[in-house]
Amino acid sequence: LSLVVLISGGGSNLLALLEAAEDAEFPARVLAVGADRPADGFDHAERFGVPTFSVAMSNYADRDEWGDAMLEQIQVWQPDLVILSGFMKLLPPRVIAALSPNLVNTHPAYLPEFPGAHGVRDALAAGVTETGASVIVVDNGVDSGPIISQERVPVFAGDTESGLHERIKPVERRLLIQAVLDIANSHIDLKELS
Ligand code: GRF
Repeated sequence: LSLVVLISGGGSNLLALLEAAEDAEFPARVLAVGADRPADGFDHAERFGVPTFSVAMSNYADRDEWGDAMLEQIQVWQPDLVILSGFMKLLPPRVIAALSPNLVNTHPAYLPEFPGAHGVRDALAAGVTETGASVIVVDNGVDSGPIISQERVPVFAGDTESGLHERIKPVERRLLIQAVLDIANSHIDLKELS
């Protein structure tokens, strides 16, 4: 299974995929890593010899033009699956239409609880005793697509946003790796799910 991964930040989930793909038995390879800015996570890609590309929204007249440019870069690689992992922009509808259903996203909450860019912060603010991590198929909404897998993560008194997020990320990484395996082995059919 050939992958293109889109990130915006440190790319710890990307790193997990790159490390997993080092194993010849792992049925997926990261062809390229893209971002909406020169993301810190590009360091991981470069260390693994994986090409990177960044498409900054500020270079385009509007979101649709930016989306078309991002899609063009993705399609250079003809991936089987595009993974959004810590990608903090919403892709325009025509980009999602072009990639769907082979477009999945990881989210640090137990969707449909706490969608959006601040899922960890919102869970803390809500005072819940457990939140979670989810892997979903991307649709035109915000973290609203069909759920591929999810798992609960406890919230402890005194948790900070970053502390809770660091407890969630390992779960997110494990779910993401498993989802890639299941898709590669056809245990999950994204067309059926969508
Ligand atoms: C991940 O929890 C992702 O789901 C969320 O932001 C975090 C990015 O972490 N959108 P990283 O860039 O993979 O370290």
